[in-house]
Amino acid sequence: MGHPTTVLASVDSTNRWMRAQWNQGTVQAGAAVWADEQTAGRGRLGREWDSPAGLNIYTSILWTPDKNRLTGIMSLVAGIALVQAVRNQMGLDARLKWPNDAVVGGRKFGGILVEAGHEPQPWAIVGLGINVNGEPNPLFSHATTLEKARGRGIDRESLWVHVMGELEKAYTDWQARGESWVQATWTACNATLGQTVRVERPGHPAWVGVAEALDTDGGLWVQGDQGRQKVISGEVSVRLA
Ligand code: BTN
Repeated sequence: MGHPTTVLASVDSTNRWMRAQWNQGTVQAGAAVWADEQTAGRGRLGREWDSPAGLNIYTSILWTPDKNRLTGIMSLVAGIALVQAVRNQMGLDARLKWPNDAVVGGRKFGGILVEAGHEPQPWAIVGLGINVNGEPNPLFSHATTLEKARGRGIDRESLWVHVMGELEKAYTDWQARGESWVQATWTACNATLGQTVRVERPGHPAWVGVAEALDTDGGLWVQGDQGRQKVISGEVSVRLA
């Protein structure tokens, strides 16, 4: 998969930009876009993604997977790639908080938003937001930046190249080795299993349990007072209790 890349000074959202290109038929699998700033960056669960200029990475890549198009799995694959890139390039102990918040020292430095569909063929836009340089936005108390975690500034371009390389590797491994590879690799670099978590789903009472295992479909098995339940991403947030 090559990476014909579009670099933009400013865009509303790289995911939205890629979607518009896909709808117009002007991009193919492997196309990537990177913006210095987003004016309407989007996060999971309808949240906004803070996207100031000059500091971070906001990037989206187009995938057209030929098997198992579960959005939940794709976002885990992308999360694996992101933490591998940070581990390899900086030696930081980057980990994944289910489903795919990238954390270091328990604080979030990266997030992934996958949007997928089937027309005119199965597609997915994998968007990554990485807090690279500067101080985290004080409005987000659980956030950090890689510069803060590492104690010195980071070359964004070189990190972006590493992330793209790891995305390609993880995508190829997933397609060749299947969901059990995703399950084992995610489990090896996660920060959620074994922890007590609080499961919050809009319109439902929150509940607390112990995160026990990742399913091959990307769901999280949580043991609570009412028994063991599989939590599916997309609709819930899971916080350490
Ligand atoms: C999350 O809520 O953790 C996911 C955040 C995803 C943010 C990235 S930044 C690049 C891409 N474009 C967007 O509008 N969102 C994603």
